[in-house]
Amino acid sequence: MSNRIGFVETPAEISRLMVELSDAPKDARVMDVGCGNGVFLKELQNQGFENCTGIEIDKDLHNISQSQFEHYKIINGDYLTYHFPDKFDLIIGNPPYVHYNHLPRNIANSVRNIIKTTAGDIYYAFIIKSLELLKEGGELIFIVPYHFFYNTYARYVRDTIFKQGKIEIIIDLDETSLFFKENPETVIIKFRKGIFNIDDEKIKLLKIKTKKTPPLKIMNKSLDALQNKCSNNLFDYQEIKHYANSNQWSTYIMDIPDFPFVQLKDIAKVGVGFVSGFDDAFRINKEDIPFLNDNEKELVKNFVKGKNCQKYLIEDYVSYILIEDDIRDEGELRDIYPHIYNKLIPYKVQMTSRYILGNKQWFHWQALRNYKFLIANLNKKKIYVPTLDRHSYNRFSLGDEDLLPSGDILFIQPFQYEDIYFLLGYLNSDFFRKYYLAKGARRGGRVSFTQRLLDDMNVPIFPSEIKDKISQIVKEIIMKLENKSNVLALEKELDRLIYKEIEKNRLSKVK
Ligand SMILES: C[S@@+](CC[C@H](N)C(=O)[O-])C[C@H]1O[C@@H](n2cnc3c(N)ncnc32)[C@H](O)[C@@H]1O
Repeated sequence: MSNRIGFVETPAEISRLMVELSDAPKDARVMDVGCGNGVFLKELQNQGFENCTGIEIDKDLHNISQSQFEHYKIINGDYLTYHFPDKFDLIIGNPPYVHYNHLPRNIANSVRNIIKTTAGDIYYAFIIKSLELLKEGGELIFIVPYHFFYNTYARYVRDTIFKQGKIEIIIDLDETSLFFKENPETVIIKFRKGIFNIDDEKIKLLKIKTKKTPPLKIMNKSLDALQNKCSNNLFDYQEIKHYANSNQWSTYIMDIPDFPFVQLKDIAKVGVGFVSGFDDAFRINKEDIPFLNDNEKELVKNFVKGKNCQKYLIEDYVSYILIEDDIRDEGELRDIYPHIYNKLIPYKVQMTSRYILGNKQWFHWQALRNYKFLIANLNKKKIYVPTLDRHSYNRFSLGDEDLLPSGDILFIQPFQYEDIYFLLGYLNSDFFRKYYLAKGARRGGRVSFTQRLLDDMNVPIFPSEIKDKISQIVKEIIMKLENKSNVLALEKELDRLIYKEIEKNRLSKVK
């Protein structure tokens, strides 16, 4: 029976690149973890490494490696529990990526013991075990998902990395398709064990610019960027400060300038939208609304969904039937809202099986979050933003009165006297985009907008004439967008103003 766990083969060029990243001498003690059919061992052999060990849990894969590399020691065993009497100068490889919940029981138990949580992945355990097995000054070179940079449950992994040494190189490959069928967001990291003064040194960070790139080009261009210490047409090269703690890490780095600010939560309420738990039943076509009676029309509400959020402007909305929690009786629904009752009744069984709190009826929405606040402020314009976004720019959009947020977006309601247009311009600016990403908001190729992150974001306190100018530009942008005109020049002007004002403040501090 096959024991393969998370087997995918690494392209030869990627393993070659990773071996090239090592500074270990050719007689170093090297280990390839989860060696599969020997992609890394082959490269280590090609580059003249003499003293290599491979470990592979699957017997067939182990045999393939063993038959090819007779001069290397190939162990058939479980890396996480195997006892190695000596430590290593270099540990390299592509560990398996499998969530705890999908692992065989015995492996899952070892993972939990090592990573101290059941909410993680086997590759977290591979990282931690490898850090232990390195000699002082030894190197760990892994290709792994980017996920552990920000996942809450990977804090222990980040903490261990942070305490045991320093990251020297990160090659952020984003979602480049490297492995057959699967395209997780991956990074190659090179770590060195030991005590260092991390203030004296920087991490070399490469970020890929084009996801559709063959491995050979990735190898050549990343080695080129590292050698020349500069960006090229495939990679952005940066030297960044070491991560200072085990909070979320990010490869979006910005030297965040020090400017006078308020936090977004000081000037606006940020909140999540309503979740129906069964959109298909509650959605109503605009052309069906005229056939409803007056009571029924009262229950129709217009919602903004993620797809309606354009940069600056809401495009269209979706109408839903919102049966508020105070309509409690099915008989009442049938008698007073007959069309709606007839529309919902075919879904009753499915709607009953949704997760709904005890005191709710089958025809209620699943979660009316911020309900009181939203209903009390229905007559106000709001800013909306999708909670997860693949776009390369922010899509904060202004919605008119009488709109409600659906579950896939957040709303931002500025407090009285706050200028919503200024805020909208700031949130959509290039500065804010970079600043937000630098706070660790990337999630699997997308950017996550959460109440927690947004609440704590700084909004600069600009002189009122600058604020007014920004506000004016935003109004012009909106007008032009409504007329389907180009707004590029205005957006550039807005970005320029924000950068200039922030820079001005920095310079005045330097003086
Ligand atoms: C992502 S694959 C990489 C294979 C090979 N190194 C390559 O790069 O082509 C991960 C490998 O780790 C092996 N593996 C999974 N869990 C293991 C464990 N606990 N101990 C040793 N090997 C393991 C899998 O069978 C698989 O071959």
